[in-house]
Amino acid sequence: MDKFVIEGGRPLRGEVRCSGSKNSALPILAATLLCDGECVIRGVPRLRDVDTLLAILGELGAETRREENGDIVTRVVDLEPVTARYELVSTMRASFCVLGPLVGRRRRARVSLPGGCVIGIRPVDLHIRGLRALGADVRIDAGYIVAEAPRLRGTEIYLGGQFGSTVTGTGNVLMAAVLAEGRTVIDNVACEPEVQDLARFLVATGARIEGIGTHRLVVDGVKTLHGVEWTVIPDRIEAGTFLLAGAITRGAVTVTGCLTEHVSSLLATLREIGVRVESAPTQCRVEAGAGFRPLHVTTLPYPGFPTDLQAQMMALLCLGDGISVVTERIYPDRFMHVAELNRMGADIRKEGSTALIHGVDALSGAKVMASDLRASAALVIAGLAAGGETEVQRVYHIDRGYDRIVEKLTGLGACMERVDDKKLVASATDSEG
Ligand code: EPU
Repeated sequence: MDKFVIEGGRPLRGEVRCSGSKNSALPILAATLLCDGECVIRGVPRLRDVDTLLAILGELGAETRREENGDIVTRVVDLEPVTARYELVSTMRASFCVLGPLVGRRRRARVSLPGGCVIGIRPVDLHIRGLRALGADVRIDAGYIVAEAPRLRGTEIYLGGQFGSTVTGTGNVLMAAVLAEGRTVIDNVACEPEVQDLARFLVATGARIEGIGTHRLVVDGVKTLHGVEWTVIPDRIEAGTFLLAGAITRGAVTVTGCLTEHVSSLLATLREIGVRVESAPTQCRVEAGAGFRPLHVTTLPYPGFPTDLQAQMMALLCLGDGISVVTERIYPDRFMHVAELNRMGADIRKEGSTALIHGVDALSGAKVMASDLRASAALVIAGLAAGGETEVQRVYHIDRGYDRIVEKLTGLGACMERVDDKKLVASATDSEG
């Protein structure tokens, strides 16, 4: 199993290009199950999670291939299969987003429940509520969601829960509603850029959806959807991670090929702590000097500060000039990185869904363990800023969500390498994402 060995303490400098968004590409690839004819999806990052989804699509009767230029071509050739197996779904939660397309087009689905993961319990009650409202009979059988819907009828659905809206839940219900009879109004939908990208993809295939980008989607069902060529949006979380890497190492980093409007909460936060930020519509630059002012930051649904950048932001606040407070409102248990950052000399205390971070002058390199995708990213950027050597173990987590991260960071001057560490043994299945 691979680990990263990082020699920290070098300011990152230069330009790095953003890849396509993982969390856009996955539901859009799942949505190709709804289409007659060939879809060509461009800008899909080269990630383990994408490979997992392509394996699931293959078992669901889709032919898929990756072209040399990275485009993914899909075509459904068999509408019979309806089962997404536990063995695959349990390795990646996002594979649950095949549920909506299966119910929508095949009117039957048997999709393994993804279960919890290290960032929390992560229920799917809202997905089920939405599909039931459309007329599907949904039950749980032997760890699988079994849905049957001889007819799907448009209706009004309120898709809010204890923690607000749901990103993949919105996607699942939307993907079922586009082929339902009549009009569906879905209220309190997530309006993350990835949800918008999925909705726009569906419109390009012939779906009729209004209200994209707002909290209410109005869907007028159509009979069929056709193949289309689509380019996924840039990955705002990857972009944010590189900006934070630039800032934490007190360097100067420009991220190109991103959509700045998608990272506005991060840019505002960086400005607030004293990082110099310049931005144009598709690129941003950060330059950090000596200190970081302490800060209170709370994760919220888009356009609030994203939970997927919470761990990386916390790594930076470890080097702040006072006490910072980070509150997690999306996943109250998403704090696995705290103990590992403390092993690097950080001073973080967790109280419920809040972390109190006493800034320290420096972090020191250590052996640390990645627990999930974004926590791993936080450890990597902490390692880049720390004095001495950091070993981040179990980097298979990071391979799920960061396209060629070693190449990109070394391109900015980072001193790090991937090392095959055969001594490490894989943990049980991991399914965040
Ligand atoms: N929730 C419910 N019931 C549901 C669904 C969600 O209570 O039926 C709760 C969740 O437990 C959580 C909150 O609602 O407290 C939001 O969860 P959401 O459903 O929006 O998360 P998700 O769709 O499972 C996606 C991303 C995550 C990202 C979250 C929040 C994908 C594939 N995953 O997950 O990305 O953290 O939205 O923005 O899009 C990552 O990339 O590292 C990652 C974890």
